Amino acid sequence: MVKIGNIELPDFPLLLAPMEDVSDPPFRRLCKQHGADLMFSEFISSEGLIRDAIKSRQKLDIFDYERPVGIQIFGGDEEAMAMSARIVDAVNPDLIDINFGCPVKKVVCKGAGAAVLKDVDLMVRLTKAVIKSTSLPVTVKTRLGWDHDMINIDEVAERLQDIGVQALSIHGRTRAQLYKGEADWSHIARVKNNPRITIPIFGNGDVDSPEKALEYKDKYGVDGIMIGRAAIGYPWIFDEVKHYMKTGEHLPKPSVSDRVEAARNHLKWSMEWKGERLGIVEMRRHYTNYFKGIANFKEFRTKLVTLDFPEELFGVLDEIIDSYSGYQFA
Ligand SMILES: Cc1cc2nc3c(=O)[nH]c(=O)nc-3n(C[C@H](O)[C@H](O)[C@H](O)COP(=O)(O)O)c2cc1C
Repeated sequence: MVKIGNIELPDFPLLLAPMEDVSDPPFRRLCKQHGADLMFSEFISSEGLIRDAIKSRQKLDIFDYERPVGIQIFGGDEEAMAMSARIVDAVNPDLIDINFGCPVKKVVCKGAGAAVLKDVDLMVRLTKAVIKSTSLPVTVKTRLGWDHDMINIDEVAERLQDIGVQALSIHGRTRAQLYKGEADWSHIARVKNNPRITIPIFGNGDVDSPEKALEYKDKYGVDGIMIGRAAIGYPWIFDEVKHYMKTGEHLPKPSVSDRVEAARNHLKWSMEWKGERLGIVEMRRHYTNYFKGIANFKEFRTKLVTLDFPEELFGVLDEIIDSYSGYQFA
């Protein structure tokens, strides 16, 4: 069993990575159904939360059926982080996660996300400010360092553990790498094998198949794996990894009707949570992933990303089942 504060997770838990515009409640619901053990909200700006920005506030929505769930915040100002931690605390997630890994310019320019990797003293102050403002467990998600010449995850892990961070998720890239190249898990393994480190260490980066998950588990000895992109339009990845780790065998691939069912639920829950119009529009970015690998799908895809009314969209989803019944994925 893996413990984060009082949260008990199964042995070798699989985590759904926080992903902006992706890991919202409808998507998390699907991932939960398919075996994710711990999930995170999209990152939420501490400044936005304090300004009461509607978009930031909406990201605080969590539902009991998705527990345990963490809310992730980011920022570069101690006071703002402390205040936002109090706001998050009030909605009672299972934990608060701090993002010190986001590489995008708009975040880094404000001295937040991965920028904080350049100043570990600041990272410690920001984290302390959050820990002091909540009774919930606080975890951190970060990268290996700012760039290749400044890989400081070893120091980061020790100092964060020393001030009370209860788990660390490490994406095996530097900020400079963005998403390029391959994640280098050897640095994550070094942190995990540091005898001073006792908190759970979760590895993250590029896990996209049951084989890779098992290989990385054995090779790098982490306490669990966090999966991001491979779950987009494919929440089955969690069940598949678990089944393979347990039996050495593959689950059958989800059929076209399984995929339609997932897309239908995703659409339905998105409309329920975001309102009909926004739910339909924001769902458009997901269809390609649900139906990846299906030959001659263009016509259906075009309809799914242009039609405006729920009945039409549900009708197209039904047509997909009729057109591809018995379809075998390569
Ligand atoms: C669309 C997208 C949005 C992301 N948003 C966040 C975020 O809000 N917070 C965060 O810590 N990481 C974010 N990430 C990074 C992922 O959590 C993860 O670290 C990264 O994708 C590597 O894992 P993967 O190879 O399994 O996808 C995002 C990644 C993607 C692709």
